[in-house]
Parts: sequence; C-alpha cells; structure tokens
Amino acid sequence: MSTDPNNLAIKIESLTKTFRTGLRRKLTRALCGLDLEVARGEVFGFLGPNGAGKTTAIKILVGLLKQNSGQAYLLGRSIHDPQARQKVAYLPEMPDFYDYLNPIEFLKHCGRLSGLSNQQLIKKTPELLEKVGLNPAEKRPLRKFSKGMLQRVGIAQTMLADPELYILDEPMGGLDPLGRRWVKKLILDLGQAGKTIFFSSHILAEAEAVCDRVAFLQHGRLIAQGSLSEILQTHTGNWEILVAGQQVKKDEKIMAFTSSFRHAAQDTILIPAAEIEMKQLLEALLAKDYQVQSVNQHHASLEEVFIQTIDSKQASKEN
Ligand SMILES: Nc1ncnc2c1ncn2[C@@H]1O[C@H](COP(=O)(O)OP(=O)(O)OP(=O)(O)O)[C@@H](O)[C@H]1O
Ligand SMILES: [Mg+2]
Repeated sequence: MSTDPNNLAIKIESLTKTFRTGLRRKLTRALCGLDLEVARGEVFGFLGPNGAGKTTAIKILVGLLKQNSGQAYLLGRSIHDPQARQKVAYLPEMPDFYDYLNPIEFLKHCGRLSGLSNQQLIKKTPELLEKVGLNPAEKRPLRKFSKGMLQRVGIAQTMLADPELYILDEPMGGLDPLGRRWVKKLILDLGQAGKTIFFSSHILAEAEAVCDRVAFLQHGRLIAQGSLSEILQTHTGNWEILVAGQQVKKDEKIMAFTSSFRHAAQDTILIPAAEIEMKQLLEALLAKDYQVQSVNQHHASLEEVFIQTIDSKQASKEN
C-alpha cells in the first residue's frame, strides 16, 4: 500500500505484535504484518472472530500498547506523536468508569482532560446525555448503571471534544436490539456529518447495515477487505427455485439434482441449486409440469461471506 498517510484517517503498515505469557513465556502472535487504510469520512468495520487481534490493533493505534514492528498513522500523524490523537475519540472494549461519579460529573471530568472549559461543559454535558438517550438530570453514580447505560455514557464521552475520527472497540457489545439500533443510527449520523468511524465488531449484520468498507481479520492477518458491495458481490449465493406442492420431494429425476429441499410458505418447496445445475433442474421441473413460482439468486449476507472466507482460508491451510 502506498497512499500518502495525510490523505487517510488511518494508515497501518506491517504492524506486528506478539505477547509472551505464563511461566514458559508462551508466544502469542496477535498481529502478523497488518496493513490497512481507512479513508477520511469513511465508516469502516474492523471485523473478525474472538482473538483475531482487533483490540490489539486498536490499542496500538490509541497508544495503549506498543507494536513490535510496523508503523501506523492517525489523520496523517505517526501514532508516536501525541498530537496524532488530538482529534481522535476512543471507546474501549470494556470501558472502566470512575463509578462513584454520576454521568454529568464523569463527562465533565473527561471533558476537562480534553481541554474543554467549564462553561463549555455546563452546556455540552446535558446535551450529550440527552443525545445518547440518558436523563441529563440522572444523579445516580455510574456503579448503579446497567451495561447498556454505561455503554451510552462511554459513547457520550467520545463525542465531547467533537473529534474527527472515532475509534470504537465493539460499540454494540452488550447492547439489546434497541440499543444496537440506536448505536447504528448514531454511527450513520456521525458518518453523514463527515466523521470517520472505525469500529470493531463481530455482529456482522449490524456492520453490514452501516459500513462503507470492511476488513476481515483472522489470526492477526487481514483475510479480506473492500467495500461492502465488492465483498458481497464476490460471494453471490446459490439459486433457489420455489415450486408449488410437495410431490417434487419424491421425484427421483429431480432428486438427482439435489436432495436438500426446504419447506417454504403455503405448501411450496424451495430447492437450492448451483448455477450450472439450475438450468438443467429448471428444464426438468418444467418438462414435468411442476409449477415453478420463482427463481431467485440468494444474496449472501456479510455473515455468510465471513464464514465462507474463514472456512476457505482454513481449508487452504490444511491442504
Ligand atoms: N495482554 C495480553 N497478553 C497476552 N496475550 C494477549 C493480550 N492481549 C491480547 N492477547 C492475545 O492476542 C490475541 C488477540 O487478542 P485481541 O484481544 O486483540 O482479539 P480481538 O479480535 O479483540 O478479540 P475479541 O473479539 O474477543 O475482542 C489473542 O490470542 C489474545 O489472547
Ligand atoms: Mg476485542
């Protein structure tokens, strides 16, 4: 990759990180030469299974961990330059709050660290709490908040200093469906306002709903990246033929093509088929006067693409 870091929100070059743990100093390779580019103004999903290395990469970006080798840049500045994080907000995977503070006190404390004046904070903190769906008059300490409520406080904290780049580690983690819908809407709104959002997730359906581009990480390596449409197009799913009636399941000629029938609505059968078989299968169905109700290509979801990509990498490793 050779794009000038100045034009990018995030640039990661050959990032490597290993951990040594236990008495035997066992080696874990968390990142193995990660390269990644996130354009300014993009909503970018950093996806991967548990232990893929997402949090490790994010912690290196925000200065909480040091890489073994490689480089990274935020908004054109090297991550070793503290100024690089001036316009960057970070939501940790498991935010740790001063839980004796109430939300207003907590936000004011964070705001002061970001250099906001008291006057700015008096105006901004209740506005932000309202924006994240919490009561600005809430006086209970944070230790009495639920996980979802704390996540909202954490997100409010990221918006305090009106950053350009949001780095969010599992922003939908632990949230109920309504909470996740709210975070998705917030991400879309921030994206519309021209902000860059880089967030990790393994809730792929949620990522699919908001991302411009995604990257899949596995065992510390990037296994796929691209715009959602590019990624989804490369994995068009099988054909599905909807046939009325049940007789087709017992028809030996049809069963020669496939035996994995699925019941669909109102006495209909869905027959999955590969593209090549689809034509012959369709001809066979029509020749025997079966009532074909529809022929559709099933479009793969991001989740299916993700599982297929991981499976194919696993298979090529084993061969
Ligand atoms: N402080 C640490 N010490 C030792 N090993 C670590 C440490 N932090 C992470 N690892 C290891 O590095 C690998 C990557 O972990 P990481 O937390 O980055 O994954 P992740 O993609 O964020 O996973 P999850 O989706 O579960 O949050 C894992 O094998 C993990 O056990
Ligand atoms: Mg993580």
